[in-house]
Amino acid sequence: ARGPVIAIDGPAASGKGTIGRALARHFGFAHLDTGAIYRAVGHAVRMAGDDPADPAAAEAAARALTPGQLDDPALRGEAAGAAASVVAAIPGVRAALLDFQRDFAAHPPGGAPGAVLDGRDIGTVVCPDADLKLFVTAAAETRARRRHLELSRRGDRVTEADVLADIRARDARDAGRTAAPMVRAGDARLLDTTEMDIDSAVAEAIRLTEDAL
Ligand code: C5P
Repeated sequence: ARGPVIAIDGPAASGKGTIGRALARHFGFAHLDTGAIYRAVGHAVRMAGDDPADPAAAEAAARALTPGQLDDPALRGEAAGAAASVVAAIPGVRAALLDFQRDFAAHPPGGAPGAVLDGRDIGTVVCPDADLKLFVTAAAETRARRRHLELSRRGDRVTEADVLADIRARDARDAGRTAAPMVRAGDARLLDTTEMDIDSAVAEAIRLTEDAL
């Protein structure tokens, strides 16, 4: 039988990635940032000079994806995030990436005793039987402030207003699409980090996980 699976979903810059990494470290589980998969596909399509909205180009990039592509620092930028949310709306792209994500949950790399996956549809589509589901969210303005700080530290010269506009556009696209829209699963615990610093958010997530496992 598989080990415990923790599903974390939520919008851009909500803190779900940081929480996922921290939970994985705390419990000795493997962690998969599924956003990186969609970012890698969006980035590959852009680099090939194709349109991320072109289903044939995006599906070919999804089928050709290799784990080595997930470490590219370019994936963290706003352009890759925006392209990710465009390719992510294409059903054939999502279908092509499903097995990789489910295999990770069922057989975590390195023989880890459990897996943490974070994304938009982990609790609803990828791992509906997860042992714990968290939906991590925060006010859009708060998320824009955090994301802007992170981008500025990387030397990315972008205004906070642009980041907020981008986050709003991405939220609308992710929640409004037909294929696996971003939605809180009925059995997901809500973790609103608007008024929390990262340490308290992680502590709360650890508490919820200890309760669930
Ligand atoms: O989480 P992150 O911001 O890296 O995700 C980038 C984009 O990838 C999201 O805006 C979303 O469109 C897409 N995504 C998705 N399903 C997931 C993870 C990410 O559609 N499980």
